[in-house]
This record gives sequence, C-alpha cells and structure tokens, in this order.
Amino acid sequence: GITRYYDFNVTMANVTRLCSSKSIVTVNGQFPGPELVAREGDRVVVRVTNHAQHNVSLHWHGIRQLRTGWADGPAYITQCPIQTGQSYVYNFTVVGQRGTLWWHAHISWLRATVYGPIVILPKLGVPYPFPAPYKEVPVIFGEWWQADTEVVIKQALQTGGGPNVSDAHTINGLPGPLYNCSAKDTYKLKVKPGKTYMLRLINAALNDELFFSIANHSLTVVEVDAVYVKPFTVDTLLIAPGQTTNVLLTAKPFYPGANYYMSAAPYSTTRPGTFDNTTVAGILEYEYPDAPSSAPSFNKALPLYKPTLPGFNDTDFVGNFTAKLRSLATAQYPAAVPKTVDKKFFFTVGLGTHPCPANTTCQGPTNTTQFAASVNNVSFALPTRALLHSHFTGLSSGVYSSDFPVAPLTPFNYTGTPPNNTNVANGTKLMVIPYGTNVELVMQGTSILGIESHPLHLHGFNFFVVGQGYGNYDPVNDPAKFNLVDPVERNTVGVPAGGWVAIRFLADNPGVWFMHCHLEVHTTWGLRMAWLVLDGSLPHQKLLPPPSDLPKC
Ligand code: C2O
Repeated sequence: GITRYYDFNVTMANVTRLCSSKSIVTVNGQFPGPELVAREGDRVVVRVTNHAQHNVSLHWHGIRQLRTGWADGPAYITQCPIQTGQSYVYNFTVVGQRGTLWWHAHISWLRATVYGPIVILPKLGVPYPFPAPYKEVPVIFGEWWQADTEVVIKQALQTGGGPNVSDAHTINGLPGPLYNCSAKDTYKLKVKPGKTYMLRLINAALNDELFFSIANHSLTVVEVDAVYVKPFTVDTLLIAPGQTTNVLLTAKPFYPGANYYMSAAPYSTTRPGTFDNTTVAGILEYEYPDAPSSAPSFNKALPLYKPTLPGFNDTDFVGNFTAKLRSLATAQYPAAVPKTVDKKFFFTVGLGTHPCPANTTCQGPTNTTQFAASVNNVSFALPTRALLHSHFTGLSSGVYSSDFPVAPLTPFNYTGTPPNNTNVANGTKLMVIPYGTNVELVMQGTSILGIESHPLHLHGFNFFVVGQGYGNYDPVNDPAKFNLVDPVERNTVGVPAGGWVAIRFLADNPGVWFMHCHLEVHTTWGLRMAWLVLDGSLPHQKLLPPPSDLPKC
C-alpha cells in the first residue's frame, strides 16, 4: 500500500438550513465533511488542527486500528481532546477491510455536524465480487438542529430530560422538499438509463434508525460496515446510526419521463414518523441518454413518484430485513467466526433512572427522576483522563476500575413492567480480557421505560452476529440456533426492541475499546462501557507506544 496524507482543519462555518443560519463546527469548512479515500493496505495519515472554540477528537468509525488504538479517537477513552490551537496526527493502516465506513467527531454531540465518508477501495487489481458499478456515490443521512447541539445536550444533561428531537433529517446535509423552506436544499442524484450505481449509504444521524427507499426502484445490498454480504434485493432497507450499507441501484433501461423521490424516515417503536415532517427526500433524476452533463435540469412538469416506507413501528419489517444479512463466506472472503468460545458474557442494555439531585427539578420520566442508560446497570461515567494512556502507563488508579460486572450490578426484572431498575449506578468500569480470547456476548435489551432498539457499536473489532430474537434470551435453547456458517460481520448491530442479539469476536487487538449505543442521547445517558484487551506475549500482539503528539488532558 501507499501512504495517503490528509489535512483536516477544524473550523467554524456559517450554514443556513430551514431558513435559519447558525455557526457550526466543520472540517475544512465543509458540511458534510471531506471524503477520505484509501485502498485496502494503505496507510492513512490525517493531520487534524483545531481552529474552533471547542475541544475536538475524531473517530474513524469501523477502522480496526490494529495495535494503533491511539488513533481511534473517542475522547477520554483513547485520547484527550485536541484543544483549540493544537493539532494531532491520526496515523493508521487499513488492514483487511474494503467498502464504506465513515469518520465523525467523538466528543459531546459535535458529530451532529462533523462527519464524512471513508471509502476503502479493494487492493489494486482486485475486483468487487459483483459487477463493477458505473459510478459510486456517498449518500449520508444526518439530522439537523436549528439550535446549537452543544446547548441541547448540556440542557438534557442538567435536567435529565428526554431527547430533544432534531428539526430535520438530511441527505448529504440537505433536508429536502418536504420541509419548509428547503426545496432548494434538496439532494439530487442524476442517473443515466441502464447504468448501475453503487450508493454508499451512511447513517450519521444522532438518534434515529432510518428506513430508506427509492420510488419504483429496487436496491441490491452488497456490503455492510465494510464487509461484503451475499447480495439480496429489496425495495426498502433499514440502517441504524453508525451503520453503512452499499447498495447497487440499476437505472431503468429507457428514459422514463419521471422523477423519483428517495426517502428516509425513522424506525421507532415509540414515535410516529412516516412521511410527515420527519421524512427527508432527495430526487432521483434521469438524464436524457445523450445529454451533455450540464443539461437538462430537474423538470418540474414530469410526474414525481414517492416510495412507500414501512410504518414507523414496523418491527416485522426490521426482523425480516436483518435476517437477510449474511456474510459471503467464500474461500476469498471467509467468515472467520469463532467456532469455540473462551468467554461468554451477558449484558443488559437499556434505559433506567437516577434519582433527581436535591433542589433540582428534573425532566426524566417523573420530575424526581432523571433518565439514565446503562450496561449491566452501570451507567458509564467518562473519566477526566484518557483510559488508554492510563492503562499504558499503569496509572489507572482514580481513572478506572477493572470490575465491570458480568451480570446486572443491581439485579432487576429486565422485561418487567412497571419499570423497576431505578438504581442505575455510575462507574468507570472496564471489562478486562486476555489477548486472543474468543468472546461471545449476548446483549439483552430491557423494556424499562419503553422498548427501544439500541444500535450497539464496538470499537476496534468487527463481530459476527450469530443470533438474535425477541423477548428474553434463553441460554438453554437459543444457542442451538446460532448461525456459525455465514453470520453477518459488522461493527454496529441493533439490539432488537424488546429482544436480544448474540455476537462473537476474537479479541486480537490489544487496547481499550469503547462499546456504546450509537443513539447519541443514550450514549450521553451512560449506555456505554469499555473493554480492555491485554497485550499478548508475542511482539506483534502488543499495543504500539503512543505517538509523541498525543494530546494531554
Ligand atoms: Cu461511530 Cu464510538 O462511534
């Protein structure tokens, strides 16, 4: 591979959406941010310089960071933030991955505006395992707030209030024609009849899983989270925050004399959301076969077709869609799922409550309680020094403890009603495992305070989704149904609403690795924890030393 250099300057920029302007944090003044392109095997060197009045850190979501945890990016986990006026060089090699990933700010709620695509091309001369597309296009879903998201999150933390719903969903930063004052801010994809396009879909939204569909066109899923899958064709797909999905879109063979909406709207078991003001639309527009690329432009006189998205709470659709995702599992792209397990873990993930602090009125489920979210009933508190450096230097006392519980810290009936886990405990607890452990982790979603699906993201690894189901996990009968042949391999998985998911991975990457719900509001409330994978005995099994410019707290 080669080395690719990037300069990322973190700067403020004025952006207008929904007829109002605000100053947002950006990279290089761009929103969404610049595309990072590399080939499998390349080294990537990104110099990030912070010119904004916010501390920042950037995360390369899904990049494995083998032995280079220092470049992973979550603030206070693998590094201290890059302060105003400082810079830090993220230096890593892309090993054994190809497809679409993305990068985003990993501090507070800055990722609302600080994100962009990562395109990993196959090694030179290695074709895709599907017909080469005519063109490849990133399509990034996001959320837009008219308020400053840093203010939104500060208020939510002070009062423990519910999620502050964004003002619009976006495609490549644009809300589209279904929002007031937004018709001119509409993403348009121009296609030529008969050609096949690969859309690199990325869900960068803060708090919403999304359905996506293009009217009168089908989509063939070929890759998720930078891993090829067995191709399958659908009208609509689901993509959770943190996830990426490559789809092939074949344009109709002849100029159709029509335009088509491509739309995304939330999947939520608790909030309505189909084709009302939560729906973002872009336009698929056909070019005349031999038109010069400058003409013709969007013709309003043409008929416009709209897709039908599933109901906002269509959990059956979600179950059917996720069941279709399978690894290629071929000789060239094997599914390296651990067939045996050294360590089995059971984590409950979900929402709960803290008592409201004295002399405060809270906006939790009642005004005497605050929302909290937890893993095994521990609501993870961010430390004030970076965990990875504390581990590396052996100065961990007062920063973290190594006693992450193997079962809920305070046991509770996790599918019981009424809610009864009102005593979520705060802590900065790590789960420590030796290098080379074959891990099986069952994550059980709890129904406390409403059933929600949680897109859990693990840093530093891909994992295999060997099983999932609704209701309570049954440790006697469910493992017999695990798929150890071609389970999908990914870095972010939806723990089903009111259900469970079982994953397996080989802990072959030493370091401290964050795991959290990629719904930002749940992360903020504490639905996060960290694994500490110890060094192995051989030289290539050890964490590399920190770079000299690693930011200090
Ligand atoms: Cu994309 Cu820790 O996140």
